[in-house]
Amino acid sequence: MLEIECEAASVPQDAPALMERVARSVCHLEGVAGVSACARIVDDGEIHRLNAAQRGVDRPTDVLSFPTVNYRGRTARDCAALIRREYDPETGLCFLGDIVISIDRARAQAAEYGHSLARELGYLTAHAMLHLCGYDHMTEGDKAAMRAMEEKVMADVSLPREGGYLTDEELFERACAMLDMAYAPYSRFRVGACILAEDGRAFTGCNVENASLGATICAERTAALKAVSEGATKFLAIAIAGESGVAWPCGICRQFLREFGPDMRVIAGRKGKPFETATLDELLPRSFGPEELLGNQE
Ligand code: THU
Repeated sequence: MLEIECEAASVPQDAPALMERVARSVCHLEGVAGVSACARIVDDGEIHRLNAAQRGVDRPTDVLSFPTVNYRGRTARDCAALIRREYDPETGLCFLGDIVISIDRARAQAAEYGHSLARELGYLTAHAMLHLCGYDHMTEGDKAAMRAMEEKVMADVSLPREGGYLTDEELFERACAMLDMAYAPYSRFRVGACILAEDGRAFTGCNVENASLGATICAERTAALKAVSEGATKFLAIAIAGESGVAWPCGICRQFLREFGPDMRVIAGRKGKPFETATLDELLPRSFGPEELLGNQE
């Protein structure tokens, strides 16, 4: 729903996916569907220029939003008819407006608040998308309503304030760092993994082969076993790095991971190359999970 243009240098690779997730969450929590928006990620120079030209404010800022709908003091959930006027036959969606985020300000603010860039980008996207849905912070009451929605969105997309979760890039880096530990004398196909638990802890693993080849354990299962044995049983994401090729999880690992998080995101790549992401549900559709058995126990 969010068309994103990265115009600044050094935008993290996973920023667009994160922003899309946040935008979807805002619309879901606001109860609006069939809508779209445009987002630009720019540098301080460009947002300064826009701030001066559009608002007459001669300095850079962190985020700007330009809603298309005039909600007249209400928010999107109560304005279905007004939103429908923004229907664009080309996309088949109603256009809510544009948002612009400065990656430079986001980075500086993340450092200032001591949380991750992902958390800051997520927050700025939530804030801007809420503006596109009619929220504002001119009065104390409006400000409180907007804050409450921001908190809901941040919890919904699993970007808690405390410490912040590791980003996809950080998880992938940790997976790459595990390649040195891989025990792969037979295949020489080294794999490293790093799994992110819902409680914020991250556990690493590598493949551990065996002379009886079938006894080999993949990197993902090593990481997951280490996590489960330390009390983490719900996971948000797993990064898997191959040394000589991309290692999407094998069938056994897909089933093994499915037990602990059907919604988990999978980040796969080869060391030194850009990674790709998918959800476990995409990798293992129509899967068999604990609900099937545990649901039968009463
Ligand atoms: N391997 C993994 O560790 N993860 C995967 O997703 C694919 C395969 C390992 C198992 C074995 O040690 C080697 O790669 C070759 O199959």
